[in-house]
Amino acid sequence: MTIKYQTERLILRPWREDDKPHFAAMNADARVMEFFPELKTREQSDQMIDECNRRLARDGFTFWAVDRKDNNEFTGFVGLNTFEANLPFCPCVEIGWRLAYAHWGHGFATEAARKCLSLAFTDFSLNKIVSFTTVANTRSRHVMEKIGMVDTGNNFLHPSIDEASGMREHCLYQAVSWIKP
Ligand SMILES: CC(C)(COP(=O)(O)OP(=O)(O)OC[C@H]1O[C@@H](n2cnc3c(N)ncnc32)[C@H](O)[C@@H]1OP(=O)(O)O)[C@@H](O)C(=O)NCCC(=O)NCCS
Repeated sequence: MTIKYQTERLILRPWREDDKPHFAAMNADARVMEFFPELKTREQSDQMIDECNRRLARDGFTFWAVDRKDNNEFTGFVGLNTFEANLPFCPCVEIGWRLAYAHWGHGFATEAARKCLSLAFTDFSLNKIVSFTTVANTRSRHVMEKIGMVDTGNNFLHPSIDEASGMREHCLYQAVSWIKP
């Protein structure tokens, strides 16, 4: 059975083959990828979609594809992801988001993220969710704050990001319970 979730304006769903060109286009957009060390190739982008669907089958959650209800357009992803790295807070489940530039500024990331954070504590019985981003990514930090996550102050150096990028230092937010903001 294909499980979908919804909010007032959005559908969160498994990925489809026909998302691939749209996702690749946003991953090749320098505005969307400003706080990532590099743009993604079509192949890297497609691999991420395939991996998301594998994780959905394994964990029951993933970074879901997000569509707008008003026009059925694919907007990007928001969701939950198991993160494993040689870091003190791992293994853990993170909440994350990436939307195509055309869909910024409507509150969609925050709306979908609120839904995912509540699912984490209800449907998936998780007891802690983290979120992290390079320290300069204020737009993403703002989403974290709007959904009620707290900055732990425990900044860390992301192991898979090169020092030379200037993006290695990440802030770490967490939520340990769900209170509707
Ligand atoms: C991070 C990212 C998802 C944020 O997107 P966004 O559209 O700015 O975020 P939101 O969904 O919170 O919407 C923000 C604005 O929409 C506006 N808005 C318009 N209509 C709205 C509505 N109905 N409800 C809420 N906000 C609305 C508000 O002005 C809001 O800004 P404010 O909270 O400062 O007032 C987006 O910038 C992105 O995809 N960035 C690239 C990827 C990335 O960096 N991901 C994180 C890496 S860890």
